[in-house]
Amino acid sequence: MKILILNGPNLNLLGIREKSVYGSESFESYFEELKEAFPAMELSYFQSNTEGVLIDKLHEVGFSYKGIVFNGGAYTHTSVALSDAIKAIETPVIEVHISNVYARDAFRHKSMLAPFCKGVITGFGMESYRLALQYFERMKPKQI
Ligand code: DQA
Repeated sequence: MKILILNGPNLNLLGIREKSVYGSESFESYFEELKEAFPAMELSYFQSNTEGVLIDKLHEVGFSYKGIVFNGGAYTHTSVALSDAIKAIETPVIEVHISNVYARDAFRHKSMLAPFCKGVITGFGMESYRLALQYFERMKPKQI
C-alpha cells in the first residue's frame, strides 16, 4: 500500500523551529520510526516550501497511491490552489497538524483544505502522523 507523507512550508525546520510548539525531533528521524512501525506500508516522504511543488506532488501521486497524509503548514489556512488540487485528485488525503491549531491564533482555525480531506488530526505532536497512518492501515480500500 503506497502512502505519501507530504509536508509543507517551514516543516523542514522541525526540531529546530519553535521547539515549544513543534518539539525537538526532526521529521527525518521521526520518519524512520514510522517506517519501522508500518513495515507493510510503502511509505514515502516529501517536503517543499513551495506551493506549486506541493501541487505537482499531489497530482503525481493522487491517482495511484492509496493515501496521502498532508501537513500543509501555513498554506492550510490560505491556499485555494492546494484545496483545488486535493479536490481534483482521487487519493484520499488526511490533513494533519502537529500543534492544536484550535488552541492557537484565530487565523489558524480556518482550513481551506479540510472540506476536501477525509478528516483532520490536529494537536497530537508528531503522533498526529502516526494516527493518520493507522487509519489507512486499518481501513480496507473500499472503506477509505
Ligand atoms: C502546523 C500549524 C500551522 O498553523 C502552521 O502554520 C505550521 C504548522 C502544525 O503542524 O501544527 O506551519 O501545520
